[in-house]
Amino acid sequence: MTIACEYRPGLEGVPATQSSISYVDGQNGILEYRGINIEELAKHSSFIETAYLLIWGVLPTSDELAEFKHEIQFHRRLKYRIRDMMKCFPESGHPMDALQACAAALGLFYSRRALDDPAYIRAAVVRLLAKIPTMVAAFQLMRKGNDPIQPRDDLDYSANFLYMLTEQEPDPIAARIFDACLILHAEHTINASTFSAMVTASTLTDPYAVIASAVGTLAGPLHGGASEEVILMLEEIGSVENVVPYVERCIERKSKIMGFGHRVYKVKDPRATILQQMAQELFDKSGHAEQDQYYDIAVALEKAVAERLAHKGIYPNVDFYSGLVYRKLGIPTDLYTPVFAIARVAGWLAHWKEQLEENRIFRPTQIFTGTHNVPYVAIDKRRSSQDIQLYADLVAP
Ligand code: ACO
Repeated sequence: MTIACEYRPGLEGVPATQSSISYVDGQNGILEYRGINIEELAKHSSFIETAYLLIWGVLPTSDELAEFKHEIQFHRRLKYRIRDMMKCFPESGHPMDALQACAAALGLFYSRRALDDPAYIRAAVVRLLAKIPTMVAAFQLMRKGNDPIQPRDDLDYSANFLYMLTEQEPDPIAARIFDACLILHAEHTINASTFSAMVTASTLTDPYAVIASAVGTLAGPLHGGASEEVILMLEEIGSVENVVPYVERCIERKSKIMGFGHRVYKVKDPRATILQQMAQELFDKSGHAEQDQYYDIAVALEKAVAERLAHKGIYPNVDFYSGLVYRKLGIPTDLYTPVFAIARVAGWLAHWKEQLEENRIFRPTQIFTGTHNVPYVAIDKRRSSQDIQLYADLVAP
């Protein structure tokens, strides 16, 4: 069957599903989860409440929220075999690879698959929301040669994660800011990792495979990996004076400035605006020390990029200020993307559930650009591909 259609690289503008989970207005910088503006949620909600909203479509009552929190608290611990498996991971490995392996490994331990059973869906949601932060924190401690820290039941989701990561009970303001960061990163319509989750979900595989494939997709520097790259870039720039020459150099070389640009937003990402306020709050609290000019460099960079690239709709995206916030919270640079994954698990699970409600396996088409009727050449008669290229160059008109 031949289907006539226009090829859109990166599927830009091609609707791949119908969804009621989130909404982005890229021209006016608006993001809503289930119709509620992201600013409202960042101000008034908690990550767990927002996860509930995304996955079940409504804000929970206080009883429902308490029950959900309790279930998550109960499932935070990891099986000792998962910890043993993690002991074999090389400490030089990237935490996103460790997280992807651990998420997939959950499928080995919870192998029952009953996708039409609401209790199964609920258990998988709870398990993944509960265990992903524990995995990230455990890998961080284990790669330093330490035993992982057990979760603390008296701490909320975000405070507990920071505690498991740093071995210290966090300052309540830091925990609150971190929780708001998770809210901001929890969902964002069909981005690359969510699409990856949906494609995997559409085969009716288990939810752990769904999340593992999404984690692998989020890891790339054009997606979730950008916040890590932003800090490396700010380090390379080093001072406010170097900002303009750096931007000029990138434009001349046509290289991307990390943390800028977005397929959908053609104005400043609303999440970047909120994260900038948080970064400013944290930097004001600790003072703009001379050796820590990152916030000032970031603001100067935003200005320099706007002056040169605003006509292309290139503004800061969510990753631009998130790294600055995480850095101030003492989170190691290569954990920024795993932290993004902790948050985005909520969105991935919401899309998994939505996909199952009206599933059809993804099977797009392609436009064939190869050749037909190529004869099979016996191995002793083949020329190396280099020779073939040489020959092609010689006979080229
Ligand atoms: N710096 C400089 N120029 C840029 C940037 C940037 N960060 N982003 C886009 N542009 C320019 C491109 O050079 C291109 O210019 P041209 O039309 O003159 O060739 C134009 O803007 C369109 O860029 P595309 O790469 O075609 O845009 P696309 O929608 O495919 O890519 C993406 C979006 C991947 C986010 C891109 O902007 C980028 O690579 N940004 C840097 C990486 C980053 O911050 N990623 C995180 C995104 S947010 C997230 O995933 C959570």
